[in-house]
Amino acid sequence: MAASLWEKVGLEKVSHPMESPVTNTSTEKALRQRRLVGILLIGFVCLLVGFVLRAALYQGAFWSEPAEDLIQRTKPNAPFIKTPNNIVDKMVQLANISKDDLVYDLGCGDGRYVITAAMQTACHGVGYEIEPEIVVVARQNVMAHGVEDLVRIEEQDVFKVDLRDADVILVYLLKWMLEDLIPQFDAMKAGSRIVSHDFWIEGVEPDEVLELEDDQQEMRSIFLYTLPLTKNPAMERGKPPKPRSVDKDANKISP
Ligand SMILES: C[S@@+](CC[C@H](N)C(=O)[O-])C[C@H]1O[C@@H](n2cnc3c(N)ncnc32)[C@H](O)[C@@H]1O
Repeated sequence: MAASLWEKVGLEKVSHPMESPVTNTSTEKALRQRRLVGILLIGFVCLLVGFVLRAALYQGAFWSEPAEDLIQRTKPNAPFIKTPNNIVDKMVQLANISKDDLVYDLGCGDGRYVITAAMQTACHGVGYEIEPEIVVVARQNVMAHGVEDLVRIEEQDVFKVDLRDADVILVYLLKWMLEDLIPQFDAMKAGSRIVSHDFWIEGVEPDEVLELEDDQQEMRSIFLYTLPLTKNPAMERGKPPKPRSVDKDANKISP
């Protein structure tokens, strides 16, 4: 067979795209496939980077907890403001705590409610606090006051605490928080008490409201509720229930 001109000059014939539609189609197909593989690869790398960043941001909790839940758990819903000592004493007194009671301090801050209750009545207690740094301070206070056999402090969101075992709740949290806690309060035993500083539970009749001066001569309110809660939808929202007594002398409870 006669050698072609190309073979004679030692060159391979390269077909022009216009000459061979078959060759042209397979080249385009190969290009399309390569482009598709490239796009998929970039997509995969982006996804991988997203996963790594998110996992790093939420410190490994990504697989076990939804992000929203995690944000809610780590964010305090109220600032750390300390209750004056004479008001703490009055709250413990009003709650009528005995040594057989289990006292929960919701949003315990430095632990003053539950530590005072344990020191004055020998009751057992648990303080729940969401801020890790404040938890450390509260635990130091438990040790410093020698009540480590009676009191423990837990780093926990108050909205996740099971209140069924508590006989007494001492609390200084915002009004909306108390309202959101109602379903948890409702699960408490009959005869259990809730004593709240400065904020009342909307739509619930208190058993007692005290108004008294703190050690800086500022007026403070204390609300006592006994379980089961007495709900009254007719109560005006945003309006504090009337005090039965105004106590200028914070050292004694008014009748
Ligand atoms: C107003 S301070 C009261 C501190 C203390 N009980 C007192 O009266 O001195 C409220 C405390 O609740 C904590 N806190 C806010 N939101 C919380 C939540 N969702 N779960 C647990 N603690 C929370 C805050 O970090 C703060 O220490």
